[in-house]
Amino acid sequence: MSYFLGVDIGTSGTKTLLIDAEGAILAEATETYPLSHPKPLWSEQDPEHWWKATVKTIKAVVKKAKVKAADVKAIGLSGQMHGSVFLDKDDNVIRPALLWNDQRTSAECEEIEKLAGGRKKLIKMVANPAMTGFTAPKILWLRNNEPKNFARTKKILLPKDDVRRRLTGDYATDVSDASGTLLLDVTKRDWSKPLLKKLDLDPDLFPKCYESEDVTGTLTSAAAKQLGLTTDCMVVGGAGDCAANGIGTGVVKKGVLSTSVGTSGIMFVHSDEVQVDPDGRLHTFCHAVRDKWHMMGVTLTAGGALGWFVDTFCKELQTTSKGKVYETLNREAAAVPAGCEGLIFLPYMAGERTPHADPDARGCFVGLTLKHTRGHMVRAIMEGVTFAMRDSLEIIQDLDVPVRQVRVSGGGSKSELWRQIQADVFAKPAVTINAEQGPAFGVALLAAVGAGQYKNVTQACNATIKETSKTPVIAKNRKRYDEVFPVFQQLYRSLAKDFKAISALG
Ligand code: XUL
Repeated sequence: MSYFLGVDIGTSGTKTLLIDAEGAILAEATETYPLSHPKPLWSEQDPEHWWKATVKTIKAVVKKAKVKAADVKAIGLSGQMHGSVFLDKDDNVIRPALLWNDQRTSAECEEIEKLAGGRKKLIKMVANPAMTGFTAPKILWLRNNEPKNFARTKKILLPKDDVRRRLTGDYATDVSDASGTLLLDVTKRDWSKPLLKKLDLDPDLFPKCYESEDVTGTLTSAAAKQLGLTTDCMVVGGAGDCAANGIGTGVVKKGVLSTSVGTSGIMFVHSDEVQVDPDGRLHTFCHAVRDKWHMMGVTLTAGGALGWFVDTFCKELQTTSKGKVYETLNREAAAVPAGCEGLIFLPYMAGERTPHADPDARGCFVGLTLKHTRGHMVRAIMEGVTFAMRDSLEIIQDLDVPVRQVRVSGGGSKSELWRQIQADVFAKPAVTINAEQGPAFGVALLAAVGAGQYKNVTQACNATIKETSKTPVIAKNRKRYDEVFPVFQQLYRSLAKDFKAISALG
């Protein structure tokens, strides 16, 4: 028998699952951990949380599924992208990792574009402009602001690759995750030596880059012992969580778009060749499919906005709803008409990536009246996040990328109401598929491919991913959203200057 593990090291927690050779999920486990915001635009995490959660969840699923250690053939790793783990010569973590939604690096983004010889030249080298969330600006921030820490840094790893180091003892990454560093030649699928030179960064700081399905190493005896697995267990390249979700939702051909409403919101399309948004609003990254690419738009705060609302304002509901907080809020929001009777939410609570690339943008409710209730606010959050994701959809469609089907995924899409809102705002039926843990399932499939269970990733997806439901568009709601969406778009333009002023207030 052969079994495969998929581990997704996310922002709010690590999700692990075990699949059999046919792709059936035998067991799942999740372990949550905190993230810290030492200053308003900062977002950091201690890599130790990721390791502990990985060990705990792997042990839990192997135990739950009652499989033999020797039958667990391979592990696939997925994780939050762009984070920076700075290691010293003895592999000690030098400081907490700066995360994808950290916005402290505006000055470094400008510095990178300048050193690269301008924005156009940078896009030519690495297919993307500098964005505050990406890894390269974080490295320059360390060099500019914590020079002693920078001098001690001998390796820089992405979150899932730090976990890999502790599993196999190797410094390795995969092309999809490496794309989000801004240091990968996305066309050649390897580090951009010219850009590293221009930024004066030593190539030895970075791990070896693999295709997502390739085996990068096997478990060390210490890791095998700690996990209760064997040293034959392989670890494959894996993928950044967006590309991993692309695999896990079967977006391995043109025409299908996946949406993911997790902490962030993702609009993701496959591409057979390198296609770049000339305005640099969408990201062009390597796909986790060999020699394929993808484009995506990222809404920085999606499910994260609803999570914030619940944590901040719904503490008592935890008791009164007997733990059914989200069910209660969904019911209240479903009773509110589409468009929330004039209440609009801008979800830019951690600044925004696509399409505004604006770290100073802020979240807001606009249009509050005395009639509005908690249900209105919850629905407005869902609608506002979905409008922000529609901004990405419109760019994708403007670039003539075909979108015949929308597959919805991520925690937010488990809500029937949020699926309906997605169908109505995107004006396309929202299709769900059998695997709910997109990124973890995607990398479990990559592990199966790496271990030789499937010929390639496309075959693995075709064999295991099935559509399970379709939420049709409600014409009346769609019409309403078509009226509200331009107002939503105008609000950012109207407020952009004010956001800058607010941000300057500190
Ligand atoms: C992608 C991105 C986020 C993180 C969150 O570019 O920044 O989706 O990967 O997990």
